[in-house]
Amino acid sequence: MKKRILTGITTTGIPHIGNYIGAIRPALELANSSDESFFFLADYHSIIKNNDPNQISESVEKIALAWLSSGLDTKKSFFYKQSDVPEILELNWILNCITAKGLMNRAHAYKAASINKNDPDKGINMGLFSYPVLMAADILMFDSTHVPVGSDQIQHLEMTRDIASRFNHLYKPLLTIPEPIVQGKDKSVLGIDGRKMSKSYGNIIPLLESEKNLKKSIMKIVTNSLEPGEPKDPSNCTVFSLYKYFASQREIEDLQKSYTEGISWGEAKELLYETINKELTSVRESYENYISDKNIINDLLSDGSKKVRIIAKQKISEIRDAIGIKNI
Ligand code: TRP
Repeated sequence: MKKRILTGITTTGIPHIGNYIGAIRPALELANSSDESFFFLADYHSIIKNNDPNQISESVEKIALAWLSSGLDTKKSFFYKQSDVPEILELNWILNCITAKGLMNRAHAYKAASINKNDPDKGINMGLFSYPVLMAADILMFDSTHVPVGSDQIQHLEMTRDIASRFNHLYKPLLTIPEPIVQGKDKSVLGIDGRKMSKSYGNIIPLLESEKNLKKSIMKIVTNSLEPGEPKDPSNCTVFSLYKYFASQREIEDLQKSYTEGISWGEAKELLYETINKELTSVRESYENYISDKNIINDLLSDGSKKVRIIAKQKISEIRDAIGIKNI
């Protein structure tokens, strides 16, 4: 069977180094070792938690730019916006009708939002509650065999598998059961305050910024107060943990040695900046190219959705037929 990978990125916020290391870079590497790859902007997922139209559209643009500038090749991978493929929403409804409410009650994204409140329904919309179903529709629409996700998404993949099996059992085996490929298994990427890098913590290092702003956020990384000359511990250090994602094995060992020899935080951060910047220079150049003519991005996305809709239309017609929605 062909290996078809598919992954989506929710269009909230502006892309940061955590997205790049945790999702974009590994997904693009996987694309090289797969027969087919599907990457999409999960813009209908993003309205679950955000009602600001300007923020949504800005984020869609920035995240599209992040993928393209990081090297996504639209000749080799399918790249599209979820909202440009209405068949996904059609499948979403069909899957909703075979998904047990009890299964959704257990979804941790929803549980996390409703925990510790006197009224567990407060602030929960149906989009959040049934979001794993939309995610299942994204995945099952295209017979994906492998889905690269962060470890926080494993449960959703299990739910997708459950939903697909139920469909196959109730109707006929039309849906491919996908395997997760879990990224960032060991640890999440740390932000400048040492917690997981996340827009909601305000601790991100941005991806598509000038050298000056990149440097500024790296210099803000919180460290302990050990003086230059005092030995430092690389094992519990945000600077070192970020360095490991960008440096070679040899460079990592060298910095480890410098830590024991008491490198100053200023020097360590400078080295981190230079190493990250080296990799991001080509990303930045490509970004500048794309923003000089935004029509290119729209054209690429519209081509992408045209291509995937051919597949989606065929699939949805088989599914409709199987459930009895068909010509009289
Ligand atoms: N829910 C995923 C996230 O927040 C994004 C996503 C939406 C996704 N649909 C998907 C990921 C389908 C993989 C496959 O990270």
